[in-house]
Amino acid sequence: MTASALEGRALPACNIDLFDDTHLENPYPNYKLLRDAGPVAHLPDLNITVLARYKAIRYALDNWQTFSSGDGVSLNDLLNKAWTGTLIATDPPYHSALRAVLNERVSPRQIRKLTEDIEAKAEQLVDELVERGSFDVITDCAYQFVPPIILDLIGFPKEGSENLLAWAEQIFNVNGPDNNKKMQEAVPSLTKMFEWLEKDCTKERVKPGGFAATIHEAAERGDIRPESVVPLMAGYSIPGTDTTIGLIGSAIYLFANNPDQWQRFCENPDELMRPALAEVLRMESPVQWFARVLKQDYDADGVVVPAGSRVLLLFGAGNRDERHFSNPDHFDISRNPMDHLAFGGGIHGCPGQHLAQLQVSSLLKALARRVKRFEITDMPRRTLNNTTRAFFNLPIAVF
Ligand code: HEM
Repeated sequence: MTASALEGRALPACNIDLFDDTHLENPYPNYKLLRDAGPVAHLPDLNITVLARYKAIRYALDNWQTFSSGDGVSLNDLLNKAWTGTLIATDPPYHSALRAVLNERVSPRQIRKLTEDIEAKAEQLVDELVERGSFDVITDCAYQFVPPIILDLIGFPKEGSENLLAWAEQIFNVNGPDNNKKMQEAVPSLTKMFEWLEKDCTKERVKPGGFAATIHEAAERGDIRPESVVPLMAGYSIPGTDTTIGLIGSAIYLFANNPDQWQRFCENPDELMRPALAEVLRMESPVQWFARVLKQDYDADGVVVPAGSRVLLLFGAGNRDERHFSNPDHFDISRNPMDHLAFGGGIHGCPGQHLAQLQVSSLLKALARRVKRFEITDMPRRTLNNTTRAFFNLPIAVF
């Protein structure tokens, strides 16, 4: 590790590749190095500044005027440009108008209305899977459960929507730096998804009453600009599926490896559901990072990062910060870390979190009624995505 002075005290420079496969398989040793390097660290190869400590990330999330999303939240110009006008890449005041359209459909009150239906779907799927005795958590469970629910709620036309999951996963790869192979290979998916949203998800073709219809109606009323319709629909189609699928995989993986925690959970799933989900989200944040651009100098305990710098908020690292969470690598469902960073926070905090948690908690509830123990039967495979943390395969047997 060397030190390069930008302004004021030296900004620690770390030669860490946040996007190679070894790191993506297990990012936690690098995250510790970055946290220990100082309140901020610099990655010279990418020329970006990284916040890996909990306190600094929380501060950035709460101060959008300094840590702006308006110039994009990714690491390359192509995606930052393509994301122009999406909710995630817009600052107030217009952000508030866009956000209101999504909140209309995914607020806790609206999502609660879906409980009975989603729980019934979980019961039916888990019944079938447990009957089989062994299955793959990702392909047989999460893929069968999450995309149909999300697609039905959004109300996109059937034709083409079968590609959404693959496109979304690829777009999380496009989020990476532009000299990165995965990023470059994934670019066509971005183009195809935006073309499909534009040409096929028109007002006439989306399902009446669905989330997408609400967006078209908001544009007709003049609440949002007509050019915001496609970017706002992307706000449902990109982040809604594989993040939730990632969370399901991590939950079962952690419970399979910590049978005492599963036993505790099964004794009282209603009371332990919220803390258990928060602990899974803290341990294995499905979205590992998003970026910001500094609109003014940022002074991190005497280390000054200049305005205009692109800054990476490493949610996955902040959630393992020993300065904030004691014994952070230990999975403990009684910890109750409700202040975790996995859904971000501040004005861009995830609006879909209630929907995601309803789906995952329905599955866990159904499993708790039927399964005493999980056993991982073969080597799980991770997706090794530039942004998300998820499994590609997770074969298990249930007892
Ligand atoms: C486990 C599942 C999920 C995780 C871990 C997750 C994580 C996140 C994170 C970390 C952010 C903050 C981005 C930032 O600060 O730049 C975010 C924002 C967002 N999420 Fe999620 N998300 C999940 C599920 C969903 C779902 C189901 C939807 C849609 C139905 C959704 C829609 C969005 C949107 C539209 C934003 C941008 C909000 C804004 O900029 O105001 N997410 N999500």
